[in-house]
Amino acid sequence: MKIMDIADKEVTFYEIDVTDSQAVDIIFRNYKIDGVIHFAGLKAVGESVEKPLEYYYNNIVSTMVLIKACKKYGVNRFVFSSSATVYGDNKVPFVETMDLLPTTNPYGETKAMSERILTDIVNANPAFSVSILRYFNPVGAHKSGQIGEAPNGIPNNLMPFITQVAKGKLEKLRVFGDDYPTVDGTGVRDYIHVVDLAEGHVAALENLTAGIHVYNLGTGKGTSVLELVKAFEEANDIEVPYDIVARRPGDIASCYADASKAEQELGWKAKRNLVAMCRDSWRFEKNFKG
Ligand code: UFG
Repeated sequence: MKIMDIADKEVTFYEIDVTDSQAVDIIFRNYKIDGVIHFAGLKAVGESVEKPLEYYYNNIVSTMVLIKACKKYGVNRFVFSSSATVYGDNKVPFVETMDLLPTTNPYGETKAMSERILTDIVNANPAFSVSILRYFNPVGAHKSGQIGEAPNGIPNNLMPFITQVAKGKLEKLRVFGDDYPTVDGTGVRDYIHVVDLAEGHVAALENLTAGIHVYNLGTGKGTSVLELVKAFEEANDIEVPYDIVARRPGDIASCYADASKAEQELGWKAKRNLVAMCRDSWRFEKNFKG
């Protein structure tokens, strides 16, 4: 509904389980599909450690069911949501040509495995065009304030935690560690506005050629936890109280992209800055009745 309002277009929606090959088959049979963007993944790192079977089953089987349907119905264009987590604890900035290091949780492993599965499938089927998009840290919301991030329960990720503290839903942010080898000791990440990320998918689909292609979708800029808190406070003129606590297990010090390949090959570059990310995240949270 909200997507139709924002886009001013009719959107056909089927609520199905993408691991259900019969349900997927019916859709492929009934439509002439130009391309597939596969977003249907479970994505919480901590939860994946508790529920590895659900994560491996959902994230791997869904990829295989979809690509199998693509093969059966002659759909050659496929865009896959991957994650910067596949780089492991590599040297920043992360570049697509780097050797990947081990992932630290089942969620990350499902992304690394899906990338390998897709690579093997493309190598065996040269007609396929697959774009693997490695997301850095998506934040922000649509500027209408209508769609944004509304995690179930207590948020795992930094930005929704910050917005909920600002709203008074949570008392204080806990900053996980201030002894990393970074600008101020807190973790550094490459935050990217979710609308820039969405535009990256459009660019990937429009520029897709045969073969397997891997792109970082990030801004190329690293921001520490405390820098993000300060940017949020300044952009929205609101306080975000915090405490420094111990490091969170599995976190790395720094993660940011070399974003030049997507710019050169897709003509795509993130355009929205940290102020826009902070304002849009806050607008959504303020409007959200949940
Ligand atoms: N952080 C806090 N307090 C919080 C939450 C996070 O200090 O309450 C810190 C983290 O320690 C980290 C930074 O904020 O330094 C970002 O943490 P997030 O949980 O928001 O994001 P991550 O970088 O840990 O993980 C994200 C996605 C994963 C993906 C990964 C890829 O959530 O799905 O990026 O690098 F795998």
